[in-house]
Amino acid sequence: MPYRRPTKALGRIGLLLIAATMLVACGQATPQTMLDPQSDSTRTIFNLAVLLFWLGVGVFVIVQTWLIVSVFKYRHKYNDQLPAQIHGNTKVEIAWTIVPAIIAIFIFVLTFQAIQKIEVKPSVASADEVHIQVIGHQWWWEFRYPDITTADGKVLVTANEMWIPAGKVIDLTVTSADVIHDFWIPALSGKRDALPVHETKIWFKADDVPDGEPKVYWGQCAEYCGTEHAYMKMRVVAASPNDFQTWVTEQSGPAVNADLPADFTAAGCIGCHVIRGTDAANGGQIGPDLTHFGSRMTIAAGTLDNNRDNLHRWLDSPDAVKPGNIMTQVIKDDTLSPEQLNTLTDYLISLDPGIDAKEQAAK
Ligand code: CUA
Repeated sequence: MPYRRPTKALGRIGLLLIAATMLVACGQATPQTMLDPQSDSTRTIFNLAVLLFWLGVGVFVIVQTWLIVSVFKYRHKYNDQLPAQIHGNTKVEIAWTIVPAIIAIFIFVLTFQAIQKIEVKPSVASADEVHIQVIGHQWWWEFRYPDITTADGKVLVTANEMWIPAGKVIDLTVTSADVIHDFWIPALSGKRDALPVHETKIWFKADDVPDGEPKVYWGQCAEYCGTEHAYMKMRVVAASPNDFQTWVTEQSGPAVNADLPADFTAAGCIGCHVIRGTDAANGGQIGPDLTHFGSRMTIAAGTLDNNRDNLHRWLDSPDAVKPGNIMTQVIKDDTLSPEQLNTLTDYLISLDPGIDAKEQAAK
């Protein structure tokens, strides 16, 4: 069969590849990219990755150039005899054993240094360090601040939104209430497993931000944990130390609206949710603490933006918004009457003590 050069087909494939790459490059914002590090830890990881990438490019270019030159220079010519048959070349064998070994040792040393740098938490004064307990649940995140006491003497607890002071060491203890999850804020930290029977640790230090401009980072559960794994998101808000203090003061207080509607009890919400400062909703352990629900950016762990319409939708049919979530065991379609829906939506939205990061998140 006569040989035909595949120029046209190859050309088309090449064009398609270039077009695809360009489309990806000009796609929408990518808040969970690892390519925009915003902490010491992630910058260390990123710099190492970039170095290894260019090292790989260097090896690729050398090997491919050598290969292509050889293909053309030594290709079969019509009247050629068989070339001299040789086996082994001690010098070449030694060279291509030693050179890769040196490269591998070089990579090992750099990697080891980077691991040391991101694993060993710097010792700083206790004022420059914040401890937070991260607890993974199917399918949301609980954040407990063991050193921050609320007005009623409890530990400050939030859900799906972790505020931190920028520039300080954030020391996290990670666990799970059920299955294995994985805590990951691509811009700020590496991944850390959230295990039900064992505590894991991770720390990071987010880049400084000015007063009045808290910065919002997206995070995501990074270990498959059931149906709604993809909707087990979180937001980290890195605020200036002053703004963080304002947030702590506000969040430590009781709910700004302690006038709990009777429907909250009647519909069974008090079985799972706490709203500090109210008489009835003070014992729930299963669902997120809703004391300052109105200040949060999202509903159902990043599934919906937190606004009146979305909250109404969520309460009306949690299973339609996030199939399989635990709230659907109590709140089915039509469990809540239209009046109850309005009452609960209005009430929850009102639980906003002031400082929040919704505007920043919308940018
Ligand atoms: Cu939790 Cu995946």
